[in-house]
Amino acid sequence: MNNKGISICVASAKGGVGKTITTLNLAGIFEVLEKKVLILDFDLTGGGISAALNIPNGKSVYHFAYDYNNNQYQEFKNYVTKYDDYIDVLASPKDPRQALKIDPKYVEIILDKAVFNYDVVLIDTNHDLTDFNILTLDLADTILFLVTNDPLDLKNMRSLISIFKDLNLKNYKVLLNESIFPFKDYFGIYDIKNIIKANIDYVLSKDFYIKNIDNFIMNGKIITLDKKASSVFAKDYTTLMGICTDIFKEGDKHEDA
Ligand SMILES: Nc1ncnc2c1ncn2[C@@H]1O[C@H](COP(=O)(O)OP(=O)(O)O)[C@@H](O)[C@H]1O
Ligand SMILES: [Mg+2]
Repeated sequence: MNNKGISICVASAKGGVGKTITTLNLAGIFEVLEKKVLILDFDLTGGGISAALNIPNGKSVYHFAYDYNNNQYQEFKNYVTKYDDYIDVLASPKDPRQALKIDPKYVEIILDKAVFNYDVVLIDTNHDLTDFNILTLDLADTILFLVTNDPLDLKNMRSLISIFKDLNLKNYKVLLNESIFPFKDYFGIYDIKNIIKANIDYVLSKDFYIKNIDNFIMNGKIITLDKKASSVFAKDYTTLMGICTDIFKEGDKHEDA
């Protein structure tokens, strides 16, 4: 692969809004599109991508930073763990104490290497506005912001969007995730747009609430790679497919420019 891949950061203003599940589902869609995907688990203190996918405890972001700092860095592929033929994972540190030792400068170093090895780099994050996370938001090609119909989430999101406007950041899309709290419907979509003062680009519907999601997680399965689930949730599968193709197309435009 010669072309540079694209990086997508899945972010939010609050925890527990479906970032990790969405990251995995997008990875599955990119696999269907035959793209080589790296999932970068940048939820340094609480990441669970490897655990969700039942992949062995390999090297992590911590090992990358440690080796790089001690002139022991080898090839990028030595730090990733394979999930299947299309998806690799660079895991978050197993011990949260290691997370505190990772200098934010490694965001750029890791991203630079990652996009030269993969078509798509999907970054899972947590919502803390740490230096590490701010740099990640800054350096990712596209940010996919998840927002829910949860008043606390929406209020936090409004502040975050206004910070984005101050910083003149425009490379973000907003995904309203109705699938995670299907019983919450205090606000309609127009109210939500009004509260966060931003457009909503995509909606994952209440129909995408997956009753047996724990089953998928326990078996290390990605929902969008499951044939049956993909037909049961056809509408939201199409939405996820749209997100992936839109972002990929925009990445191409930036390359040409
Ligand atoms: N579509 C869904 N249907 C049912 N449960 C979901 C769905 N998406 C996420 N969840 C559950 O919600 C919880 C939080 O999701 P998660 O992706 O870990 O959020 P975050 O990464 O933003 O903290 C998890 O227990 C997850 O299994
Ligand atoms: Mg998460």
